Amino acid sequence: MATIKRLGVLTTGGDCAGLNAAIRAVTIRAAGTYGLEVLGLIQGTHGLMEDPPRFITLDGSVNDPSLLRQGGTILGSVNRGDPFSFPVPGGGKEDRSPLIFRGVETLGLDAIVGIGGDGSMRIMHRLMQAGRFPFVGIPKTIDNDLAATEYAIGHHTAVEVATEALDRLQPTAASHNRIMVLEVMGRDAGHIALSAGMAGGADVILIPEIPWRVSVVAEAIARLRARGRNFALVVVAEAVPSPEGETVLAGPSAAGAMPRLGGVGARIAATLEKATGAEARVTVLGHVQRGGSPGALDRLVASSMGVHAVDLAVQGKFGRLVVWREGKVADAPVAEAAVAARPVDPQGDLVRAARGLGICFGDQ
Ligand code: F6P
Repeated sequence: MATIKRLGVLTTGGDCAGLNAAIRAVTIRAAGTYGLEVLGLIQGTHGLMEDPPRFITLDGSVNDPSLLRQGGTILGSVNRGDPFSFPVPGGGKEDRSPLIFRGVETLGLDAIVGIGGDGSMRIMHRLMQAGRFPFVGIPKTIDNDLAATEYAIGHHTAVEVATEALDRLQPTAASHNRIMVLEVMGRDAGHIALSAGMAGGADVILIPEIPWRVSVVAEAIARLRARGRNFALVVVAEAVPSPEGETVLAGPSAAGAMPRLGGVGARIAATLEKATGAEARVTVLGHVQRGGSPGALDRLVASSMGVHAVDLAVQGKFGRLVVWREGKVADAPVAEAAVAARPVDPQGDLVRAARGLGICFGDQ
């Protein structure tokens, strides 16, 4: 057993539903069970880089069930500004990782529980290799593309939101004989599109993992019409290439940020109108998939992962990532999440089931 007294918890990367449930669980376990002092680190690693580092004290008042229901993160988060390549005024980059190690020392942290996605886990892994950074990770991302875990906090709520959008789009599509294109997030992975598409009754699901052609989708819609259907529901993941084969960006991205995906749905809707003669409309769900109250599964997973993360820290098992495997919590090396993404398996069970339902992926 490691003798730890002070534990820091931070959220990093794009927010999602369930982060506060995880923060609550970490605090209850650390302060309540083990009597540790718990510091909530503000704005992820950015707060740690400041002098003095920014934090709030988390104590028994966090044992408040309303946090389970609250979207966002009470600690704030950042999804840009890799400390090893930090954008500085004038356009350059510099290594600011020493400021993080200084922050850890200044605060006297014996353990850091970080709730983040794949990009964050890569940074945390590098920090562990470069200096004293006693880290335990908890996976979160609506994209659900972290290697090593079958499930990341936030994904299920995003799928619920996208499914509800299809529930709402279907009656209006049917009333107006329209093709409804729903563009969902997910970055380079099609997990949200696939799950929500299946749950919401999509006729076509386009994901980055499966190359698609306009003619195949148009034929699928023609077959629906021939069977008497007057509408079609098409779910498009944001990183799907446009009909011209391009990645569509929503606009310029901020310094140190990932490219901002968005807009492919409109390009596909316009192309399908031409190819089918049917009227098409597009809905871009955007950040509503990240906000709002978490669903029950995200609350459950976040709470279980938070407890396990603290148990690992107390046992001195640093460098571990809490994972969800076969319906329960376990742990794996953070390095596993740092080296690989987890795209949709085009030959996997879910895609096979979707094809079995007659859903078209645009490839055949
Ligand atoms: O990784 C989570 C995610 O929501 C992606 O699905 C999406 O592409 C991106 O973040 C959006 O980032 P931002 O909040 O910076 O626009």
